[in-house]
Amino acid sequence: MIRAVITGSGSALPKDCVTNADLEARVDTSDEWIVERTGIRQRYIAGEGETTSTLATEAARKALDDAGVDASEIGLIILATATPDHTFPATATQVQQALGCRGGVAFDVAAVCSGFLYALGTAESLLRTGMAKKALVIGAETFSRILDWEDRTTCVLFGDGAGAVVLEAQDVAEDGPGILATKLHADGEHKDLLYVDGGPSTTGEVGKLRMKGREVFRHAVVNLADVLGEVLADASVTAADIDWVVPHQANARILDATARKLGLPAEKVVVTVDQHANTSAASVPLAFDVARKDGRIKPGDLVMFEAMGGGFTWGASLARI
Ligand SMILES: CC(C)(COP(=O)(O)OP(=O)(O)OC[C@H]1O[C@@H](n2cnc3c(N)ncnc32)[C@H](O)[C@@H]1OP(=O)(O)O)[C@@H](O)C(=O)NCCC(=O)NCCS
Repeated sequence: MIRAVITGSGSALPKDCVTNADLEARVDTSDEWIVERTGIRQRYIAGEGETTSTLATEAARKALDDAGVDASEIGLIILATATPDHTFPATATQVQQALGCRGGVAFDVAAVCSGFLYALGTAESLLRTGMAKKALVIGAETFSRILDWEDRTTCVLFGDGAGAVVLEAQDVAEDGPGILATKLHADGEHKDLLYVDGGPSTTGEVGKLRMKGREVFRHAVVNLADVLGEVLADASVTAADIDWVVPHQANARILDATARKLGLPAEKVVVTVDQHANTSAASVPLAFDVARKDGRIKPGDLVMFEAMGGGFTWGASLARI
């Protein structure tokens, strides 16, 4: 059977690491409050010359090297971001040009923190139709540029970064590698709980992130537990069969609560929120790359990806590595 198989991964972070203690100097907050409420200890913030496309390109290059795939073989680039370099063209086309890929298809997906799951699901469908043989799926963000640094309830929570995977259409055995099941959801009813108060067609300004954190938290745990259950049922596996969960890294308490609801031991959950904070669409591929490169995630492992973000949008995907 034809499946979309993850054959490589890569990630990139800005040079500047900002600790909670650094933030104490510019915002009315404390390391203690941030660690206790979120688990975040530090984040990376893009400096001059670092943009969503430069971080995405670096992550994509590393993923191509890791997969042993030349940029010229890539027929599809899907880049998930809510912080594109420009309103248009799509940041994916900038990455395509920077990598030296010619031809094929390149476009952005906007599903905020669920963006990587949406991009992965879209790429998987397109690969299975035969539209392309090899794809780059990237999550990349520079949320620091849409944060209101006067709003302590949001500015301490986010960071910048990028992660990428190479996805290849391969003819595999039933128990072979590849993406086994994906479920995506959206519910625009809750669009006002997490949004940016600007945009090209409204204010003409980029705008700043606004969030009702407590309400987002409540919805996140319920929606994520539901969609994880759907994917497990679709793939006919149980939570006990999963080797690793690679969740969107928004908040350590959301990760704990979701794992508990599913009966998954905390040791099976990849946690990078302490190091990177919430990097939106970048967080899942960034955490996946960290856990693959440090040897935790191995070939043959059953890995669950999951995320929830503004919209609301949410989704999960199960893959054999
Ligand atoms: C944002 C979040 C950490 C806030 O935690 P919380 O326990 O809900 O805290 P509250 O917003 O109720 O605020 C509690 C108190 O801390 C204060 N506070 C908020 N931000 C603070 C900060 N950075 N430093 C210090 N105090 C802060 C508040 O002003 C409030 O004070 P008060 O009780 O005197 O009014 C939490 O709601 C959360 O993680 N939500 C999910 C957000 C998320 O993951 N979004 C992305 C999804 S993709």
